[in-house]
Amino acid sequence: MRVAMIGTGYVGLVSGACFAEFGFDVACVDKDAGKIERLKQGEIPIYEPGLETLVASNVKAGRLSFGTDLKSAVAKADAVFIAVGTPSRRGDGHADLSYVYAAAKEIAEALDGYTVVVTKSTVPVGTGREVERIIRETRPDAEFDVASNPEFLREGAAIGDFMRPDRVVIGAESERAQSVMRDLYRPLFLIETPIVMTSLETSELIKYAANTFLATKITFINEIADLCEKLGADVHDVAKGIGLDGRIGRKFLHPGPGYGGSCFPKDTLALVRTAQETGSPLRIVETVVDINARRKEQMAEKIVDFCGGSVQGKTIAVLGVTFKPNTDDMRDAPSLVIIPALQAAGAAIRAFDPAGMHEAQKLLPGVTWCEGAYDAMQDADAVAILTEWNEFRGLSVDRMKQRLKQPVMIDLRNIYEPEEMAQAGFRYVCVGRPGRRAGPE
Ligand code: UDX
Repeated sequence: MRVAMIGTGYVGLVSGACFAEFGFDVACVDKDAGKIERLKQGEIPIYEPGLETLVASNVKAGRLSFGTDLKSAVAKADAVFIAVGTPSRRGDGHADLSYVYAAAKEIAEALDGYTVVVTKSTVPVGTGREVERIIRETRPDAEFDVASNPEFLREGAAIGDFMRPDRVVIGAESERAQSVMRDLYRPLFLIETPIVMTSLETSELIKYAANTFLATKITFINEIADLCEKLGADVHDVAKGIGLDGRIGRKFLHPGPGYGGSCFPKDTLALVRTAQETGSPLRIVETVVDINARRKEQMAEKIVDFCGGSVQGKTIAVLGVTFKPNTDDMRDAPSLVIIPALQAAGAAIRAFDPAGMHEAQKLLPGVTWCEGAYDAMQDADAVAILTEWNEFRGLSVDRMKQRLKQPVMIDLRNIYEPEEMAQAGFRYVCVGRPGRRAGPE
């Protein structure tokens, strides 16, 4: 089985390397010659645990290659994956499909023998059908089918998610296409991964419905966390208490500063727009989008409140700026709203992130970037945790107290225990858990 992966962004690179690991012959193609050159040298443009090793071993085994020649990769392939970007279009929130359609046209010109053309990028319902139309129009003689195969990869855990998924969703309508797609995922039959075989439209919608549902679940627990603060209840126990009900499930009930990243914000917005236009609005998701945007501002207000109502002239140490740990991705990170709001309120920011600082420096002007977590806390009036990187979980309270002007912590990811922090003499606040105040006000 030969695979061509068009686009070496996050999804293309991870999927390409994983299909090669399954034993297939994978050619990854990108228009960006510089990027391809760096990939050939073994340089991975994104931070994803395990990816560098996986790419290196599969390149060495001769199963994975990188190039700019779409034509020859497509001509040889049994399956061609479109994994190019689908950014939010400015103004209307719809996904910008120009890269997908341009790829479809180029693929059409290169097709040679029966091929399944698969959309891997998250694309609005109806895109697969349009890809089909473009290919047929460009090459009326071509033997092909279009399939949809959405990814459910979490950044930072993408390889595990690909190799051990909860399910694989495939939108493929002809028996021939279904059989090619099944063969591609045959290695997962051993671990009995369910395959959900559907129409193109259904498969496309499953991806959006899954992401909007998860975004809704997070937003729900965030609001329950706020209510817990008012009522003196503990949101962790509430999440456990409801999550143990199999109908609800325990995952994605961790409260925090609001969801970010490359998928949830973009996909919720795109589905809201589609639903409005079809006259079947998703009012719950509309509300989720609004609540989540407002939440990031509220988190800045929470920090200001806990610093005595003003941060004018104060220094705040910020730990973590990426939208979640184990990634260098800054897209829609809560830090992008929280840090500028604190600066506007007169605070100086000293920040540290284990992987995101390179990117963050371009997006967050006026921040002092530090060498490590303790360095960021030097002479700061308070420390705020914005991303739950593992290395922030076990910081020494004594060393933090030595560095900070006063022991004040705003833990927006709930990685410390309120009781323990109070005992250690910290004024501590987190999200949705009763805290005991100690130390100077
Ligand atoms: C997500 C989906 O999980 C994945 O299936 C999809 O294909 C792409 O989008 P990703 O964006 O990488 O993956 O990260 P994820 O772990 O899902 O987290 C998304 C956001 O939600 C982050 O900002 C995270 O901090 C937040 N989150 C997640 C919470 O606030 N609480 C939770 O309980 C879980």
